[in-house]
Amino acid sequence: MNERKPMNLQRLLAMHASGEKIAMLTCYDATFAHLLDEAGVDVMLVGDSLGNVLHGAASTVSVSMDSMLYHTRSVARGNSHAWIVGDLPFDSYQASREEAWKNAAALFKLGAQMVKLEGGGDWVNDTVRFITERGIPVCGHLGFTPQTVTALGGFKVQGRDEAGAQRLRQHARGLVAAGAQMIVLEMVPAVLAAELTRELPVPIIGIGGGVACSGQVLVLHDMLGLTHGRRPRFVRNFMEGAGSVQQAVANYVAEVKAGTFPVDAVHGF
Ligand code: KIV
Repeated sequence: MNERKPMNLQRLLAMHASGEKIAMLTCYDATFAHLLDEAGVDVMLVGDSLGNVLHGAASTVSVSMDSMLYHTRSVARGNSHAWIVGDLPFDSYQASREEAWKNAAALFKLGAQMVKLEGGGDWVNDTVRFITERGIPVCGHLGFTPQTVTALGGFKVQGRDEAGAQRLRQHARGLVAAGAQMIVLEMVPAVLAAELTRELPVPIIGIGGGVACSGQVLVLHDMLGLTHGRRPRFVRNFMEGAGSVQQAVANYVAEVKAGTFPVDAVHGF
């Protein structure tokens, strides 16, 4: 009998080390958590993208801790096997590492097994160290960071020039040294993402980061073809030709695992 075991951090690190691809999707409720789990999704991200896709906001900055807690609990109730990452929303971790810890712990108590925060540099590393040393795993998020879209000047690929690439390398190394055990890389040139995936000992999950990453993540509504407005280049509509939501998610998992999604020339930078 080959019974599927619940995902854990050691297994995710081993998948990265062996080159076995990690399939990750965002998820916000119990029904989809059950569906994604059945389809073999390895990691579910309760993303603050819920501000866009559930609340209709133009960015993620208005998302509250209360919303993240509500949706994290719902996803945890619907899931049996996947690893759950909960997003720390804007203004829940920037003011102090103590406040960051309190909010990370609140997500953890409701079923997140890892928390994700955006950005890099000294204050982020300090916060990551504070949280991980106290027992909550942390996922970083580098490249295009949606919570700072205003400061970044819009939806732009990051790390294209040498100075930007060097800053990204330093931020990624700093996060890992501080204890981060996974990093999401968003809208980064595929060669740079490939380099970091080879160099670093933790899974690098791409979203517009190229096929060489340890795994891929997409916003669930985007890969189901429900994108409101312009569809980002890195998204593929898996409903095309699938016939059902279950099949679309299963196809996504299969293509990520096989390395046939994304296609760098089509979805990459
Ligand atoms: O909130 C989210 O959905 C995310 C993904 C874009 C990775 O952070």
